[in-house]
Amino acid sequence: MSEAYNETVLDHYRNPRNVGVLKNAHAVGKAENSACGDVLHLYLAIDQDRVVDSRFQTFGCAAAIAAGSRLTEMVTGATLDEVRAIRRRDVVEALGGLPPMKVHCSVLAEDALRAALEAYEH
Ligand code: FES
Repeated sequence: MSEAYNETVLDHYRNPRNVGVLKNAHAVGKAENSACGDVLHLYLAIDQDRVVDSRFQTFGCAAAIAAGSRLTEMVTGATLDEVRAIRRRDVVEALGGLPPMKVHCSVLAEDALRAALEAYEH
């Protein structure tokens, strides 16, 4: 049923991973969805060329929470090159898909990641 959240999404929504603020983060990114006003903050701890820890906070819908949660799992332990290559469709795929009406919510995760990387690299 394409309008419903799948079990993976529901699991990340009900038990979001890596929620909170990362003290001493090396990179912080914030994204806002102009359509709905929802916001996502992403915190990355980086050691040499690798993300060693991450946290997120969002004032967002279930899909935004699930995307943020899954994103932190994807970036933690990944190299910066791998992290740079992550796009929202990768997050959506890693969640096993989102209902069509909610795919745009994954933009928050990608935008926050871009913002964090930009802040780190500049
Ligand atoms: Fe705003 Fe989903 S409705 S991010």
